[in-house]
Amino acid sequence: MKCLVTGAAGFIGSHLCEHLLQNHHTVVGLDAFIPYYPRAIKEANLARFCSHPGFSFHPLDLRSDPLDAALSGVEAIFHLAAMPGLTRSWTDFELYESCNLQGTQRLLEAVRGLSSLRRFIYGSTSSVYGRYGSGDETLPLRPISPYGVTKLAAENLCRAYADEWGLPLVVLRYFSVYGPGQRPDMGYYRFIEALLTGQPVIVHGDGLQSRGNTYVSDCVAATAAALQAPLGEVYNVGGGETANVWEILGKLERLLGRKAGVRREPARRGDQRVTAADTTKLWRHLGWQPRVGLDEGLARQVEWQQGHGQRQAA
Ligand SMILES: NC(=O)c1ccc[n+]([C@@H]2O[C@H](COP(=O)([O-])OP(=O)(O)OC[C@H]3O[C@@H](n4cnc5c(N)ncnc54)[C@H](O)[C@@H]3O)[C@@H](O)[C@H]2O)c1
Repeated sequence: MKCLVTGAAGFIGSHLCEHLLQNHHTVVGLDAFIPYYPRAIKEANLARFCSHPGFSFHPLDLRSDPLDAALSGVEAIFHLAAMPGLTRSWTDFELYESCNLQGTQRLLEAVRGLSSLRRFIYGSTSSVYGRYGSGDETLPLRPISPYGVTKLAAENLCRAYADEWGLPLVVLRYFSVYGPGQRPDMGYYRFIEALLTGQPVIVHGDGLQSRGNTYVSDCVAATAAALQAPLGEVYNVGGGETANVWEILGKLERLLGRKAGVRREPARRGDQRVTAADTTKLWRHLGWQPRVGLDEGLARQVEWQQGHGQRQAA
């Protein structure tokens, strides 16, 4: 299939491109290199596969650039481009609103009437559930961060295009994705980096906030499997093993054989208390289940960061 991946130079998008290419799809990547973290990291992500004959790349901004050339003949769209991360969404709302909502709106307008399109897969987030994101897809939608609000708004906009214009939509709600290539602003990346460099690990609040962790290759496998999903469905994508901050730190300390110095800071506004994905629906519909457990996944991320991780690129 000819697939467009928006956010192709990002953490999950780059892994998805590689996976699709390995499975003999033709991949068109699109990314604007939003400098939320260094462009060099995103270029290094792309460098892993940009010479593959099945890959082409469009350095376009969904908010402003003409999109027709990138969309020509595309049969599946994986829309992953967004401003992620909750903290900054309180202080730079315009960037989140424009990338996450306006960018999605422009993409949806551009694909309206695209006769080749078979699937439009939107990469949403557990943040749409709000403080207690533990359960299946019927949980109340009550985001507590501007980031979550913009992602939910974009999800709803996709649904409006599905209902009114026949967009072949599938929504995936990702739960805390980690592994090699993780964004440098994300918790586990920062914890490992602090341990490796002898800096204190910053723990917000009481550290008992827990996450349903998803290893990146499991996330990507679920995303590719969505090509076969019934239209209009929403799926949680989560790894099944939850852990709070202290449990993660304990695992990382054991992996690295050193003790973390901890600096306590106030809880972050918008931080979810608990996320745990019930993925029964994804299993029933598409036969997907996570394959990489938390210990193995963290070990792989540690190994990657020990080999310089993002530091080399940045
Ligand atoms: N990483 C996670 O744990 C996680 C969890 C839940 C949901 N998600 C969602 O998954 C997707 C990918 O997340 P990620 O962690 O890989 O983030 P990322 O920041 O690494 O990747 C997103 C990419 O989108 C690009 N982008 C942003 N706005 C753009 C625009 N206007 N035009 C073109 N490109 C643009 C950025 O330059 C970036 O490279 C996002 O939609 C995010 O909301 C991620």
